Amino acid sequence: MATIVGAIATSHIPAIGKAIAEQKQSDPYWKPFFDGYIPAREWLAKAKPDIVVSIYNDHGLNFFLDKMPTFAVGAAAEYRNEDEGWGLPVLSSFPGDADFSWHLIESLVDDEFDIVTCQEMAVDHGFVVPMGLLWPGDGKWPVKSVPISINTVQHPLPSPARCYKFGQAIGRAIESYDKNLRVLVLGTGGLSHQLDGTRAGFINKDFDRLCLEKIVSDPEALTHYTIPQLVEYAGSQGVEFLNWITMRGTMSGRVTQVHTNYHVPISNTAGATLVLDHQPIMQRQAA
Ligand code: DHB
Ligand code: FE
Repeated sequence: MATIVGAIATSHIPAIGKAIAEQKQSDPYWKPFFDGYIPAREWLAKAKPDIVVSIYNDHGLNFFLDKMPTFAVGAAAEYRNEDEGWGLPVLSSFPGDADFSWHLIESLVDDEFDIVTCQEMAVDHGFVVPMGLLWPGDGKWPVKSVPISINTVQHPLPSPARCYKFGQAIGRAIESYDKNLRVLVLGTGGLSHQLDGTRAGFINKDFDRLCLEKIVSDPEALTHYTIPQLVEYAGSQGVEFLNWITMRGTMSGRVTQVHTNYHVPISNTAGATLVLDHQPIMQRQAA
Protein backbone atom coordinates (compact mmCIF):
# COMPACT_ATOMS: atom_id res chain seq x y z
CA MET A 1 0.00 0.00 0.00
CA ALA A 2 1.04 3.60 -0.42
CA THR A 3 2.40 5.31 2.69
CA ILE A 4 2.81 8.96 3.64
CA VAL A 5 6.47 9.32 4.60
CA GLY A 6 6.05 12.89 5.80
CA ALA A 7 5.25 16.40 4.77
CA ILE A 8 6.99 19.66 4.02
CA ALA A 9 5.40 23.08 4.21
CA THR A 10 7.05 26.09 2.63
CA SER A 11 6.43 29.59 1.36
CA HIS A 12 6.17 29.85 -2.43
CA ILE A 13 7.01 33.49 -3.20
CA PRO A 14 7.94 34.18 -6.86
CA ALA A 15 11.03 36.17 -5.78
CA ILE A 16 12.48 32.88 -4.46
CA GLY A 17 12.26 31.43 -7.98
CA LYS A 18 14.03 34.51 -9.33
CA ALA A 19 16.78 34.20 -6.68
CA ILE A 20 17.27 30.52 -7.64
CA ALA A 21 17.50 31.44 -11.34
CA GLU A 22 20.06 34.15 -10.54
CA GLN A 23 21.95 31.88 -8.09
CA LYS A 24 21.61 34.33 -5.21
CA GLN A 25 21.35 31.63 -2.52
CA SER A 26 24.48 32.93 -0.73
CA ASP A 27 23.64 36.65 -0.91
CA PRO A 28 23.25 38.12 2.60
CA TYR A 29 19.56 38.84 1.98
CA TRP A 30 18.79 35.29 0.83
CA LYS A 31 21.21 33.08 2.76
CA PRO A 32 19.25 32.76 6.04
CA PHE A 33 16.23 31.78 4.00
CA PHE A 34 17.88 29.28 1.63
CA ASP A 35 19.93 27.69 4.42
CA GLY A 36 16.62 26.62 5.90
CA TYR A 37 16.19 24.12 3.05
CA ILE A 38 19.43 22.21 3.60
CA PRO A 39 17.96 20.06 6.41
CA ALA A 40 14.81 19.57 4.33
CA ARG A 41 16.84 18.12 1.45
CA GLU A 42 18.86 15.96 3.84
CA TRP A 43 15.64 14.51 5.24
CA LEU A 44 14.30 14.00 1.69
CA ALA A 45 17.41 12.00 0.76
CA LYS A 46 16.47 9.54 3.52
CA ALA A 47 12.69 9.66 3.08
CA LYS A 48 13.05 8.91 -0.66
CA PRO A 49 9.53 9.78 -1.83
CA ASP A 50 8.33 8.43 -5.19
CA ILE A 51 5.56 10.94 -5.53
CA VAL A 52 4.56 14.35 -4.22
CA VAL A 53 1.00 15.40 -3.48
CA SER A 54 1.35 19.17 -3.55
CA ILE A 55 -1.37 21.21 -1.89
CA TYR A 56 -1.06 24.74 -3.15
CA ASN A 57 -3.17 27.57 -4.53
CA ASP A 58 -3.34 28.70 -8.11
CA HIS A 59 -2.93 32.49 -8.44
CA GLY A 60 -4.68 33.03 -11.78
CA LEU A 61 -2.63 30.87 -14.16
CA ASN A 62 -4.83 27.78 -14.46
CA PHE A 63 -8.03 29.17 -12.92
CA PHE A 64 -9.26 32.73 -13.02
CA LEU A 65 -11.98 34.64 -11.21
CA ASP A 66 -14.57 33.62 -13.82
CA LYS A 67 -14.28 29.93 -12.84
CA MET A 68 -12.84 29.21 -9.42
CA PRO A 69 -13.05 25.71 -7.99
CA THR A 70 -12.79 25.37 -4.22
CA PHE A 71 -10.79 22.14 -4.57
CA ALA A 72 -9.19 20.89 -7.80
CA VAL A 73 -7.09 17.75 -8.34
CA GLY A 74 -4.68 17.13 -11.21
CA ALA A 75 -5.17 13.96 -13.26
CA ALA A 76 -2.65 14.46 -16.04
CA ALA A 77 0.42 12.63 -17.30
CA GLU A 78 2.35 15.87 -16.95
CA TYR A 79 1.88 19.41 -15.69
CA ARG A 80 3.39 22.35 -17.52
CA ASN A 81 4.70 25.56 -16.05
CA GLU A 82 3.97 28.83 -17.88
CA ASP A 83 5.14 32.43 -17.80
CA GLU A 84 3.08 34.29 -15.18
CA GLY A 85 4.79 37.62 -15.79
CA TRP A 86 7.04 37.55 -12.71
CA GLY A 87 10.21 37.27 -14.82
CA LEU A 88 10.80 33.68 -13.76
CA PRO A 89 12.25 31.07 -16.13
CA VAL A 90 9.61 28.58 -17.27
CA LEU A 91 10.60 25.27 -15.70
CA SER A 92 10.42 21.91 -17.44
CA SER A 93 7.15 19.99 -17.11
CA PHE A 94 6.45 17.92 -14.02
CA PRO A 95 5.65 14.23 -14.57
CA GLY A 96 2.30 13.10 -13.19
CA ASP A 97 0.84 9.70 -12.32
CA ALA A 98 -2.66 9.67 -13.77
CA ASP A 99 -3.47 6.24 -12.30
CA PHE A 100 -2.68 7.44 -8.77
CA SER A 101 -4.54 10.72 -9.40
CA TRP A 102 -7.69 8.90 -10.48
CA HIS A 103 -7.52 6.72 -7.39
CA LEU A 104 -7.32 9.87 -5.23
CA ILE A 105 -10.20 11.45 -7.14
CA GLU A 106 -12.45 8.37 -6.81
CA SER A 107 -11.71 8.09 -3.12
CA LEU A 108 -12.33 11.82 -2.52
CA VAL A 109 -15.65 11.78 -4.36
CA ASP A 110 -16.68 8.64 -2.41
CA ASP A 111 -15.75 10.62 0.69
CA GLU A 112 -18.21 13.39 -0.36
CA PHE A 113 -15.65 15.92 -1.66
CA ASP A 114 -17.01 17.08 -5.03
CA ILE A 115 -13.73 18.23 -6.50
CA VAL A 116 -12.89 19.50 -9.97
CA THR A 117 -10.74 17.07 -11.98
CA CYS A 118 -8.03 18.52 -14.25
CA GLN A 119 -6.70 16.35 -17.07
CA GLU A 120 -4.91 19.43 -18.27
CA MET A 121 -3.36 21.76 -15.75
CA ALA A 122 -0.76 24.50 -15.81
CA VAL A 123 1.06 24.92 -12.50
CA ASP A 124 2.15 28.35 -11.23
CA HIS A 125 4.71 29.60 -8.68
CA GLY A 126 2.63 28.14 -5.84
CA PHE A 127 3.58 24.69 -7.12
CA VAL A 128 6.89 25.19 -8.93
CA VAL A 129 8.86 27.35 -6.45
CA PRO A 130 8.72 24.68 -3.69
CA MET A 131 9.79 22.02 -6.22
CA GLY A 132 12.80 24.15 -7.20
CA LEU A 133 13.71 24.62 -3.52
CA LEU A 134 13.49 20.92 -2.69
CA TRP A 135 15.04 19.51 -5.88
CA PRO A 136 17.41 22.19 -7.18
CA GLY A 137 19.38 21.46 -10.29
CA ASP A 138 18.68 20.68 -13.85
CA GLY A 139 14.88 20.47 -13.78
CA LYS A 140 14.87 16.66 -14.13
CA TRP A 141 12.31 16.07 -11.40
CA PRO A 142 13.08 12.84 -9.52
CA VAL A 143 9.48 12.44 -8.30
CA LYS A 144 6.04 12.35 -9.87
CA SER A 145 3.42 14.84 -8.74
CA VAL A 146 -0.26 15.33 -8.09
CA PRO A 147 -1.13 19.04 -7.82
CA ILE A 148 -4.13 19.83 -5.61
CA SER A 149 -5.26 23.44 -5.78
CA ILE A 150 -7.33 25.10 -3.05
CA ASN A 151 -9.10 28.40 -3.60
CA THR A 152 -7.39 30.95 -1.34
CA VAL A 153 -8.00 33.76 -3.81
CA GLN A 154 -11.71 34.52 -4.34
CA HIS A 155 -14.15 34.54 -1.44
CA PRO A 156 -15.96 32.52 -0.23
CA LEU A 157 -12.97 30.38 0.77
CA PRO A 158 -13.23 26.97 2.40
CA SER A 159 -12.89 27.21 6.20
CA PRO A 160 -9.86 25.86 8.06
CA ALA A 161 -12.12 23.10 9.45
CA ARG A 162 -13.25 22.12 5.95
CA CYS A 163 -9.64 22.12 4.70
CA TYR A 164 -8.54 19.93 7.60
CA LYS A 165 -11.29 17.42 6.74
CA PHE A 166 -10.25 17.61 3.07
CA GLY A 167 -6.70 16.79 4.15
CA GLN A 168 -7.96 13.83 6.18
CA ALA A 169 -9.82 12.57 3.10
CA ILE A 170 -6.66 12.99 0.99
CA GLY A 171 -4.76 10.97 3.61
CA ARG A 172 -7.34 8.15 3.47
CA ALA A 173 -7.19 8.26 -0.33
CA ILE A 174 -3.39 8.01 -0.40
CA GLU A 175 -3.25 5.18 2.12
CA SER A 176 -5.85 3.11 0.27
CA TYR A 177 -3.81 2.99 -2.95
CA ASP A 178 -2.65 -0.56 -3.58
CA LYS A 179 0.84 0.19 -4.91
CA ASN A 180 3.88 0.52 -2.66
CA LEU A 181 4.43 4.22 -3.22
CA ARG A 182 6.26 6.49 -0.81
CA VAL A 183 4.27 9.70 -0.77
CA LEU A 184 5.41 13.15 0.35
CA VAL A 185 2.74 15.77 1.00
CA LEU A 186 3.58 19.42 0.42
CA GLY A 187 1.67 22.43 1.71
CA THR A 188 2.75 25.69 0.09
CA GLY A 189 2.20 29.40 0.71
CA GLY A 190 2.12 31.68 3.74
CA LEU A 191 2.95 32.51 6.34
CA SER A 192 1.42 35.93 7.14
CA HIS A 193 1.33 38.40 4.28
CA GLN A 194 -0.89 40.91 2.57
CA LEU A 195 -0.01 42.20 -0.88
CA ASP A 196 -2.76 44.77 -1.39
CA GLY A 197 -5.03 47.31 0.28
CA THR A 198 -4.39 49.54 3.28
CA ARG A 199 -2.64 46.72 5.17
CA ALA A 200 -0.20 45.91 2.31
CA GLY A 201 3.05 44.65 3.89
CA PHE A 202 1.24 43.31 6.98
CA ILE A 203 3.14 40.55 8.83
CA ASN A 204 2.11 39.04 12.18
CA LYS A 205 5.03 37.23 13.81
CA ASP A 206 3.10 36.26 16.94
CA PHE A 207 0.40 34.55 14.92
CA ASP A 208 2.99 32.88 12.66
CA ARG A 209 4.79 31.45 15.70
CA LEU A 210 1.51 30.15 17.05
CA CYS A 211 0.71 28.54 13.69
CA LEU A 212 4.17 26.94 13.43
CA GLU A 213 3.73 25.40 16.86
CA LYS A 214 0.09 24.30 16.61
CA ILE A 215 0.37 22.85 13.11
CA VAL A 216 2.70 20.24 14.62
CA SER A 217 1.28 19.59 18.08
CA ASP A 218 -2.40 20.51 17.97
CA PRO A 219 -3.62 21.16 14.41
CA GLU A 220 -7.28 20.93 15.42
CA ALA A 221 -6.81 24.13 17.46
CA LEU A 222 -6.24 25.91 14.14
CA THR A 223 -9.50 24.65 12.66
CA HIS A 224 -11.60 26.88 14.92
CA TYR A 225 -10.71 30.10 13.11
CA THR A 226 -13.19 31.62 10.69
CA ILE A 227 -11.95 32.96 7.35
CA PRO A 228 -12.43 36.62 8.46
CA GLN A 229 -10.33 35.85 11.56
CA LEU A 230 -7.63 34.22 9.43
CA VAL A 231 -7.57 37.30 7.16
CA GLU A 232 -7.35 39.57 10.21
CA TYR A 233 -4.51 37.63 11.88
CA ALA A 234 -2.53 36.41 8.83
CA GLY A 235 -3.36 38.97 6.12
CA SER A 236 -5.45 38.59 2.98
CA GLN A 237 -2.82 36.35 1.31
CA GLY A 238 -1.80 34.76 4.61
CA VAL A 239 -4.95 32.66 4.17
CA GLU A 240 -2.66 30.44 2.08
CA PHE A 241 -2.10 28.80 5.46
CA LEU A 242 -5.20 26.78 4.48
CA ASN A 243 -2.80 24.74 2.31
CA TRP A 244 -0.70 23.93 5.40
CA ILE A 245 -3.79 22.94 7.39
CA THR A 246 -4.86 20.61 4.58
CA MET A 247 -1.34 19.13 4.40
CA ARG A 248 -1.42 18.44 8.15
CA GLY A 249 -4.83 16.77 7.91
CA THR A 250 -3.40 14.06 5.63
CA MET A 251 -1.31 12.57 8.48
CA SER A 252 -3.20 10.47 11.02
CA GLY A 253 -0.18 8.64 12.46
CA ARG A 254 2.65 9.89 14.65
CA VAL A 255 4.04 13.20 13.42
CA THR A 256 7.51 14.38 14.44
CA GLN A 257 9.00 17.76 13.63
CA VAL A 258 12.34 17.29 11.87
CA HIS A 259 13.13 20.91 11.10
CA THR A 260 11.68 24.40 10.96
CA ASN A 261 12.93 27.76 9.75
CA TYR A 262 11.24 31.16 10.02
CA HIS A 263 12.72 34.20 8.33
CA VAL A 264 11.11 37.63 7.98
CA PRO A 265 10.69 39.11 5.49
CA ILE A 266 11.27 37.49 2.14
CA SER A 267 9.72 39.82 -0.40
CA ASN A 268 6.48 40.89 1.37
CA THR A 269 6.08 37.68 3.28
CA ALA A 270 7.00 35.88 6.48
CA GLY A 271 8.99 33.01 4.97
CA ALA A 272 8.70 29.65 6.70
CA THR A 273 9.68 26.03 6.23
CA LEU A 274 8.54 23.00 8.18
CA VAL A 275 9.56 19.35 7.76
CA LEU A 276 7.41 16.68 9.41
CA ASP A 277 8.18 12.98 9.57
CA HIS A 278 5.17 10.65 9.61
CA GLN A 279 4.91 7.19 11.04
CA PRO A 280 1.60 5.70 9.90
CA ILE A 281 -0.58 3.94 12.46
CA MET A 282 -0.31 0.51 10.79
CA GLN A 283 3.47 0.73 10.83
CA ARG A 284 3.35 1.67 14.51
CA GLN A 285 1.19 -1.36 15.34
CA ALA A 286 3.57 -3.65 13.49
CA ALA A 287 6.61 -2.20 15.29
C1 DHB B 1 4.37 37.16 -2.73
C2 DHB B 1 3.84 36.16 -1.94
C3 DHB B 1 2.96 35.22 -2.46
O1 DHB B 1 2.38 34.20 -1.74
C4 DHB B 1 2.61 35.26 -3.80
O2 DHB B 1 1.79 34.32 -4.28
C5 DHB B 1 3.13 36.27 -4.61
C6 DHB B 1 4.01 37.22 -4.08
C7 DHB B 1 5.34 38.15 -2.18
O3 DHB B 1 5.59 38.18 -0.97
O4 DHB B 1 5.91 38.92 -2.96
FE1 FE C 1 0.93 33.05 -2.94
